[in-house]
Amino acid sequence: MSQSLVELLDLYNAAAPLEEAYTIPAPWYLDRRIEQAEREEVFGANWIAVGRIDQVAVEGQFFTVEIAGEPLVVVRGSDGKLRAFFNVCRHHAAAVANVPCGTVQHLRCPYHGWTYGLDGSLKGAPEFAGVCNFDRGTNGLVPVRLETWEQFIFVSLDPGAATLMTFLGDLPARAATLGLADFYFFARKTYTLACNWKVYVDNYLDGGYHVPHLHKGLNSVLDYKEYTIENSEHYSLQSSPMVSSEEHESFAATRTGDRAYYYWLYPNFMINIYAGVMDTNLVLPLATDRCLVQFDFFFRDVSDDARRANTESVAVSDRIQDEDVDICESVQRGLRSRAYRAGRLSVRREGGEHLFHRLLAKDLRRAR
Ligand code: FES
Ligand SMILES: [Fe+2]
Repeated sequence: MSQSLVELLDLYNAAAPLEEAYTIPAPWYLDRRIEQAEREEVFGANWIAVGRIDQVAVEGQFFTVEIAGEPLVVVRGSDGKLRAFFNVCRHHAAAVANVPCGTVQHLRCPYHGWTYGLDGSLKGAPEFAGVCNFDRGTNGLVPVRLETWEQFIFVSLDPGAATLMTFLGDLPARAATLGLADFYFFARKTYTLACNWKVYVDNYLDGGYHVPHLHKGLNSVLDYKEYTIENSEHYSLQSSPMVSSEEHESFAATRTGDRAYYYWLYPNFMINIYAGVMDTNLVLPLATDRCLVQFDFFFRDVSDDARRANTESVAVSDRIQDEDVDICESVQRGLRSRAYRAGRLSVRREGGEHLFHRLLAKDLRRAR
């Protein structure tokens, strides 16, 4: 007999300390009801990174994005203000912005031509004379909360959520020394993986556990034994001293500096930093067994002279990503097996994963 959602949720004991903890159970990576609960209680209830400020640098510039199944549009107004709206026409619900990005003077719905200002207000509704009790003033695009930190744009679908700064806690202070503002966007790469989004996050949060086995090149420049894992309320910082090694030339050339910093912010955003190199990863669920991972690459130097080195750095990341994709898809197949229910966690390595699972469980409790 199939288990109820409450029974599924009860399979995980969030109170267990790391030494006694199990991973979240396999059905959480497979079940449609968990996926729906995550839409509401995870992606619909937390601050979610959606893009970068340079994507909406000038008046009228916009991009579209889907979060928790909701079509959204982020746009810079004539007053210079950044805003987010549900990308849903107030007439008959068509998407008002229909391309991934662009620059416009108004947002005009392609269906019947209703026109909205960049501040969301309804400016024009053709052939609508004679419609009773219709107030243009209350028929603008429905706003979504938007806040920024560094060059990152976040939205929250929860009108009652605490501010982004409260959610981030001491992350801005911690990251201040890394000079995030001095990194410039270079390129975006997206990957579609045949695994649940949480498999990808778990893989990221295993405290370097898989690095010596799966990423020989990366491992050659990290001091694996000295790798540290620190958890905060909503984020985890994994960090490792770097060593110089000529073993893997392309890694030695592109992954340098004293330390590597890997920040993960609950639920699905990562910031990875080496000397002069930063990339962010955004993990978005597409189905229970499919997710999209969006990599944005940044460098301190994005001049023409640096182009070759930057392209090489992206290629190195691509190689690591290929190794991670294969293993994540392998995990997803294993999670479907009747042989597997849940696994144990390394106390030395997997504290970040433990934090992730506990935060998830806390949010999903609301779905009961
Ligand atoms: S649905 Fe947008 S104008 Fe009709
Ligand atoms: Fe990896």
